[in-house]
Amino acid sequence: MSTEAIKRIDHLARALKAPRIQEAAARLADQARDAGWTHEEYLAAVLDREVAAREASGSELRIRAAGFPARKTIEDYVFDHQPALRRDAILHLAGGGFLSEAENVVLLGPPGTGKTLAIALGIRAAYLGHRVLFATATEWVTRLQGAHAAGRLNAELAKLRRYGLIVVDEVGYIPFEQDAANLFFQLVSSRYEHSSLILTSNLPFARWGDVFGDQVVAAMIDRIVHHAEVVTLKGSSYRLRNTEIETLPSVRAENTSD
Ligand SMILES: Nc1ncnc2c1ncn2[C@@H]1O[C@H](COP(=O)(O)OP(=O)(O)OP(=O)(O)O)[C@@H](O)[C@H]1O
Ligand SMILES: [Mg+2]
Repeated sequence: MSTEAIKRIDHLARALKAPRIQEAAARLADQARDAGWTHEEYLAAVLDREVAAREASGSELRIRAAGFPARKTIEDYVFDHQPALRRDAILHLAGGGFLSEAENVVLLGPPGTGKTLAIALGIRAAYLGHRVLFATATEWVTRLQGAHAAGRLNAELAKLRRYGLIVVDEVGYIPFEQDAANLFFQLVSSRYEHSSLILTSNLPFARWGDVFGDQVVAAMIDRIVHHAEVVTLKGSSYRLRNTEIETLPSVRAENTSD
């Protein structure tokens, strides 16, 4: 490539804020000449580098902004530990179709049975271009209480609707006062048929009344499951595998109770 042309490309790539074009243009030019690429093939290859890099860094930013407590992927998941779990169903969810349809995913099961799949699905969503936020149910309620106290609950709910996916982890470990339950109901209601939720809980739906109170629980579950994939995990804790604790009667009783 002539030095004039290289200089011009450098200048144009900077103007476009596309540094990878500058780098790829020079590097791929020799390769293109050697391999006899057409002009179109060369241009596509150069632009491809820029777009791929942008997509990768966008996903990375979305993953970091989501606030996941750990990085887990579907590939890390040992399906043999959950024989009743349909691998194809989880892989289907990983495809992210539920996000475009504003559908929900509910992961139910005793402690340690893999509800962290919610993180893996959240990371997939970020790769697919969706904005994601992850927090526990208690953290969500605290956030909504803060917004409510500041008189900007509606603005907060509207802001959250711009996230394609919100993950609410650990529904059920801590029961809510009625005011907190009402705020949580508003979160569910504001996303209904608009944007997706993933919820995880150690409790079956029949016991969600203990967490949210009878006033809102029926209407809330109704909205959550109207368009939802409910995944039930079973068995003993993955955390306690290969330990003696797994065979303790109290742990056994808890894991077989539903
Ligand atoms: N089938 C599995 N394959 C691989 N790792 C697993 C599996 N199930 C659980 N784990 C791992 O075991 C640990 C506990 O699982 P996880 O965090 O998903 O539990 P949980 O269902 O969310 O329980 P809790 O209700 O206590 O939060 C995590 O590190 C998780 O990655
Ligand atoms: Mg968990």
